[in-house]
Amino acid sequence: MRLHVNIDHVATVRNARGTPYPDPVRAALVCVGAGADGITAHLREDRRHIRDDDVARLRAALGVTFNLEMAATDEMVGIAVATRPEVVTLVPERREERTTEGGLDVAAEVARGDDLRRRIGTLLAAGVRVSLFIAADEAQIRAARELGVQQIELHTGEYAHPRAGPERARQLDRLRQGATLAHGLGLEVAAGHGLTRENVVDLVQIPEIVELNIGHAMVADALLFSMAGAVVAMRDAIVRGRA
Ligand code: PXP
Repeated sequence: MRLHVNIDHVATVRNARGTPYPDPVRAALVCVGAGADGITAHLREDRRHIRDDDVARLRAALGVTFNLEMAATDEMVGIAVATRPEVVTLVPERREERTTEGGLDVAAEVARGDDLRRRIGTLLAAGVRVSLFIAADEAQIRAARELGVQQIELHTGEYAHPRAGPERARQLDRLRQGATLAHGLGLEVAAGHGLTRENVVDLVQIPEIVELNIGHAMVADALLFSMAGAVVAMRDAIVRGRA
């Protein structure tokens, strides 16, 4: 199971104050040092967390897989072709949403015209692996396969958000069926969104899922796990100043 850490919300904390810290690239290198298999970052149209120079610095600094999430637009495809991350995950994006709220409706995009197919073709021709962030629904999975991508990422939000119980069990079963179908069609299967140390335990029992992209809960854990260290370090600086 590959664990890719999404470092977007390190940038959210930085941007809240306009300071240079915390640097998402430094955080990414800490994640790699601790055993992360890859780093994921979402360059949003409004640049609310990761910015263009973060993308360039991540590309230069990382020796592990860089998974760049982006909307399927010509601007973003241009950035990806110039940056050449190992993987681009295409996600839906609406300006007003707080986070990526649903999967990409690839079945509808394919029916609508050739834009998505053309953009995927540009990425594949540049040697970038393409993953599509979709719901675990048969029509979406088959449409992704038809578009010639190597990978899908199943949206786990509807599994992750309800508390443990029948709805969560139903969503887990949906993910299991989707992963089995996708794997049978030759697609590699990743999963992500809303995953925590609590809900990941059942999800990883689906053997066809070979990669997880996890961000918000890990940044939240990082804050609490290391807050004591921050207090000790600040106390130390104060004591040194007084001495
Ligand atoms: N995978 C994709 C495609 C995403 O868009 C996101 C959120 O940016 C994640 C994974 C990570 O979700 P979370 O921050 O809830 O762990």
